[in-house]
Order: sequence, then structure tokens, then C-alpha cells
Amino acid sequence: MEQICGILRSSGSVNRPVYPRESRFLKELRDATADYPGALMGTAPDAGQLMTLLLGLVNAKKIIEIGVFTGYSLLLTALSIPEDGKITAIDVSRKAYDDIGLPIMQKAGVEHKIDFVESPALPVLDKLLENAENEGTFYCWPYLL
Ligand SMILES: C[S@@+](CC[C@H](N)C(=O)[O-])C[C@H]1O[C@@H](n2cnc3c(N)ncnc32)[C@H](O)[C@@H]1O
Repeated sequence: MEQICGILRSSGSVNRPVYPRESRFLKELRDATADYPGALMGTAPDAGQLMTLLLGLVNAKKIIEIGVFTGYSLLLTALSIPEDGKITAIDVSRKAYDDIGLPIMQKAGVEHKIDFVESPALPVLDKLLENAENEGTFYCWPYLL
């Protein structure tokens, strides 16, 4: 292993970065995404570590994630929130999630925290806002870009 900017890089035949605080489930998802079409869309693990820190700071329990792809940020969110936390995860397509993310969510034991809605985000957000109890209660990850 050699140290580069706080990141450990394997010097073996698999020359992929290693992030010491990344859960093994997140690493598995990241590795499985690496060869998937559109892999560059996936959340970078160092950004993921910042997101984990923010989730802890605001003590988030109800989350809306807009833009799931294979589910890296969804998994880190599910791992970070309490056992009774809930995530409304929205994406126009759930194919990448079903292909890569879902089996790993199940293995990590966090699937029960996730309500996946296959839809463009705006109508789902409008629907959530129809219920006055939802106003101001969600922490939102807009992840379209
Ligand atoms: C940058 S990727 C999300 C990356 C993901 N959060 C991760 O950690 O790997 C963007 C995702 O947003 C989805 N998307 C694009 N436009 C959308 C919309 N209007 N409503 C819901 N999802 C949308 C795309 O299908 C794509 O999966």
C-alpha cells in the first residue's frame, strides 16, 4: 500500500483506491459499479465520506434521495441513519439499482429503510408536499448531476 493524499492505494495487481472508513458493502457496490454502463455517474467514495459526516451532523432520519443509479449514496445513507430511519429513493429507472445495488442492500440488511419510487422526481415531490406533515421533515439529496 502507498499513501496518496490520505487515500491508500493498493500496490497489487488490482490498483484501486482503498478508503479506510468505507464499509465493505460500499466497496462491494463501488467495485460492482466500476464496469457498469454509466459508472462515472456513481458517487465518488471521498464525496461519500463527506455525505456520511453531514448525515451524522444533522442527525437525519427521513431522507429523499433524487437520483439513485446503482445506489452508492443510497447505501451509505441507509447505513448512516438509525434503524427506524426511512429513505424515499427516486429515479426515472430502477434497472441499475436492481442490477447492482439491491442485492448488496439486502446483504447489508438495510433494504427495509428504502422506499424506491421509479418516476421522475417532481411529481413524487409534489405528492409528498400534499401531506402537510411532510413539510420541513425531510433531508434531501438531489443527486441528478
Ligand atoms: C449522478 S446519477 C446518481 C448517482 C447516485 N446517487 C450514486 O451514488 O451513484 C443521476 C441519476 O439521476 C437519475 N435521474 C435523472 N433525471 C431524473 C429525474 N428527473 N427524476 C429522477 N431521477 C432522475 C438518472 O436516472 C441517474 O440514475
